[in-house]
Amino acid sequence: MKERNKKSENIRFFDRWAKTYDRPLFQFWMRKFYQPVLKMIDRGKVLDVSCGTGEFLRELVKKKKNILYGIDLSSQMITKARRKLVNQAKLKKADVHQLPFTDNSFDYVVSTESFHHYYDQSRAIAEMKRVAKKGGKVIVVDINFFLRPIHRLFEKLEPGCVKVNSRKEIRNLFQQSGLRDIIQRRSFIFSVLTRGVKS
Ligand SMILES: C[S@@+](CC[C@H](N)C(=O)[O-])C[C@H]1O[C@@H](n2cnc3c(N)ncnc32)[C@H](O)[C@@H]1O
Repeated sequence: MKERNKKSENIRFFDRWAKTYDRPLFQFWMRKFYQPVLKMIDRGKVLDVSCGTGEFLRELVKKKKNILYGIDLSSQMITKARRKLVNQAKLKKADVHQLPFTDNSFDYVVSTESFHHYYDQSRAIAEMKRVAKKGGKVIVVDINFFLRPIHRLFEKLEPGCVKVNSRKEIRNLFQQSGLRDIIQRRSFIFSVLTRGVKS
């Protein structure tokens, strides 16, 4: 029940936000969070889970090194991404908890600034790992405000927010899913990047 409520809350919230999501000042800020991920991506097939309006994928198009895929729960977000990325990325409306791809498909599976919206975070990581190739990388960048009370407050205030993880909690989720060679670092001010490798 809670799962279904959170899912529809996220659909409503992001369908509405899609109209204004690309405002330049906001995107200037969002770029800072995913910039370090762009530097980690070399050749290969990339899946951007929760691609939003496709800004991160658009940056990868410029590198001309990758085959690009994106999914998002919000149809309005996907519509905006499709307009932006005509023939440059394969985009689908889908839920991270049930990715519409076969096992071992991608060299990189990335999620930026979305993980705190996932209603079953262990299942989400398991799915991201499942679709990664052996030796492929799973990369999550998500908000982190240093202090537990601020995380709890954020969960109450932001529509669709499920859980903001501490650095240790997200590392544990990666470890429990069986991802190895985990590295973590701060990504800009209020964000932590976690990367694991599928063996
Ligand atoms: C804050 S936006 C981030 C978008 C983009 N990754 C970025 O960095 O700008 C969060 C995104 O997560 C998506 N989302 C929320 N729950 C999801 C789920 N269960 N499966 C897939 N996407 C989801 C929302 O629709 C929204 O586009």
